[in-house]
Parts: sequence; C-alpha cells; structure tokens
Amino acid sequence: MPVFATWNELETACLACRKCGLCEGRHQVVFGTGCRDAKVLFIGEGPGENEDLQGEPFVGRGGMLLDKILAAVDLDRKKNIYIANMVKCRPPKNRDPLPEEQEACIDWLRNQVKLLNPQIIVCLGRVAAMKLIKPDIRVTKEHGVFFKKGNLLMMATFHPAALLRNPNQKPAAFEDFLKLREKIDRMQLDIAKEYPSEPASGTDA
Ligand code: URA
Repeated sequence: MPVFATWNELETACLACRKCGLCEGRHQVVFGTGCRDAKVLFIGEGPGENEDLQGEPFVGRGGMLLDKILAAVDLDRKKNIYIANMVKCRPPKNRDPLPEEQEACIDWLRNQVKLLNPQIIVCLGRVAAMKLIKPDIRVTKEHGVFFKKGNLLMMATFHPAALLRNPNQKPAAFEDFLKLREKIDRMQLDIAKEYPSEPASGTDA
C-alpha cells in the first residue's frame, strides 16, 4: 500500500482518486472529518446524496441523529472524534458498496487509521463491521461488544439510517454509546480538550 506521511498528502491524493467506477458519478470525494488527533474513529458505509454534495460524512438526517447521540455522551466531531467511511464516493442510489469498490478504497482508510492512530474504532452498520471486525458479524446481536484487534478496540453499532428506519433500536444504540463512553473513561483517553480539527498553519501533521 502507498503510505502517506501527512494528512495533507493523503487528502490531496484521495480527492483525485479514480481507482473504481464510483468516481464517475461523484460530485465530491468525501474524505472524512473531525479531529486529526482523535482517539476514537467512527466508520460508516459510504456517502449519501447530501454527503456527496457537501463533501462531508453524515450531514443528512442520519448525521443529525448521529450528532445528537454523540452529544449525549459528550462526543463531538469538531472536538474529539474522527468520522470516515468505508468508501469515499457515493454508490449510485445509495446501494451497498460492492466488495471490489471497498477493496479499491480500503488503502485510503488504512492510511487514515495509520495517521490517526486511534485506540477505539466504532463501525456504524454492517458494511464496516463485516469488513473490519469479522465477515459474519450480526450487528443486531453483537452491537456494543468490544473486539480486541492488536492494540485496537473495535465495536459495531447500528447505522444511523437503520435507526431512522427502526426507531425501536434507538435505546439499544444509546446503550452502545454509553458503553463507549465508559470505555473511554476507564481507559482514561485524553479526549476532553479541544483539539484543532485542521492542522495549525505551517504544520502538516
Ligand atoms: N451513510 C454513511 O454510511 N456515511 C455517510 O457519510 C452518510 C450516510
């Protein structure tokens, strides 16, 4: 895999990506957003219509719900988490990204993980959970469970769009976020301070 030394180099290369057919239909590459020092990384599936137009992950109705749940456990994309997707370009009609599209895109995510060096990854929905945790994961059964992968803890929870379709799953999702908060507190992850979400001018990291 090509390795990028800085966020700026990685983002510049990613924004020009033409590694799979999804580049044909995109308005914008949705690289990721949040704090580049975050200890907690959230990974969704792929951009929808609003994300494709605005260039930022989870900005539609699902994103508003996600922000609300995050705020309830004192997490904030501007302050102490990073959010990315499995694929950086919108799949047509919001279909699941194909295995070959995920494969073509995965090095961007691997580089994001390398630069961020998170301690916890939260997979939002089954696409990310199946690719990153285990192929046979059932999010409805194994949500909120922490899996240890090397130095990383990984957890799956419901995708915000699934919560909009099935509001009866919201309490279970909320429990997952409470468990996440407990884990952060128990690990004494230093996420309370406000990090700059963009590198300070003159630096590249
Ligand atoms: N769904 C996702 O998985 N990611 C987004 O960025 C938006 C919707």
